[in-house]
Amino acid sequence: MLTESQRSDLITAATAVRENAYAPFSKFHVGAALLTDSGRMYLGCNVENISYGLTICAERFAIGAMITAGERTPTAIAIVTKGGGTPCGACRQVLAEFAPSLPILLVDADTGAVVETDLGKLLPSQFASEFVGNPTGG
Ligand code: THU
Repeated sequence: MLTESQRSDLITAATAVRENAYAPFSKFHVGAALLTDSGRMYLGCNVENISYGLTICAERFAIGAMITAGERTPTAIAIVTKGGGTPCGACRQVLAEFAPSLPILLVDADTGAVVETDLGKLLPSQFASEFVGNPTGG
């Protein structure tokens, strides 16, 4: 359960980092702020490339920042876009690796409107470790 201050800190941070998005091709700027069980936040924005398929989404940069810092357990994410859209399928899968029912705040950059959802709703019937077995167990 997010506190009001965590909620507003996430939205503020995701809104601010969206300013750093490098999106000259789509012009669609995305900011993401990921809260973890330590109380820290990790940020990401989208980074596009002239070789379009090399683009990396904001959510995946935020996950990378979390892992780089030695953390593993996200407790919520705020994603800020024009229109407050949902994360792409690839990002849903990457988020699910670390938090299958992650609470998600979808924020409309223009109006500030927030829709609260979670990864269980956005990515049901997740592909998960039970299908693969334990890769480290041989
Ligand atoms: N994008 C994200 O950063 N996150 C998503 O979940 C969806 C799409 C970016 C990728 C690209 O730079 C731009 O938005 C338009 O697709």
